[in-house]
Amino acid sequence: MVLSSQEKEILEGFMQEAEGLDSPVLFLLHKIQKKWGQISWDSATFISKDLNIPMTQIYSAATFYEEFTIKPMGKNIIRICRGVVCHSKDSWKILDAVKEHLGIDEGETTDDGSFTLLDSSCIGQCDGAPAMMVNDSVYRDIDPAQVMKILDDLKNGGG
Ligand code: FES
Repeated sequence: MVLSSQEKEILEGFMQEAEGLDSPVLFLLHKIQKKWGQISWDSATFISKDLNIPMTQIYSAATFYEEFTIKPMGKNIIRICRGVVCHSKDSWKILDAVKEHLGIDEGETTDDGSFTLLDSSCIGQCDGAPAMMVNDSVYRDIDPAQVMKILDDLKNGGG
């Protein structure tokens, strides 16, 4: 993939926002991840050149932190909490149901690009366990039937 002029423009905007920051790389990786759902090689190369930071350093950060991915992600990112409290409230049953429903394992994306299922540690919603996040939305006290409905609504353009 080669960056389009529009993508370059967006990246240049991110670079301007990052000016003067102590850790511009992490800031930029967050912006890129949020915008495109992945850290592409081309985006990483762009910031490497612009900041004059070795590509190895950019890619180390992109692969070290779990919130970044170098693989293309689905339109909707599902994180079902695997923390201790959620696990004790059967979050694993929800996870199994989602895997079966979507036909994917954790870390995988559906063939149609609608969903990526990620492994997740505690998402800070223990008093609403079991909990999950889909994109930026938090769902608490969930059960498998509710989750299937949420996913189907998202797939059909609702949610
Ligand atoms: S353990 Fe699941 S939200 Fe904390």
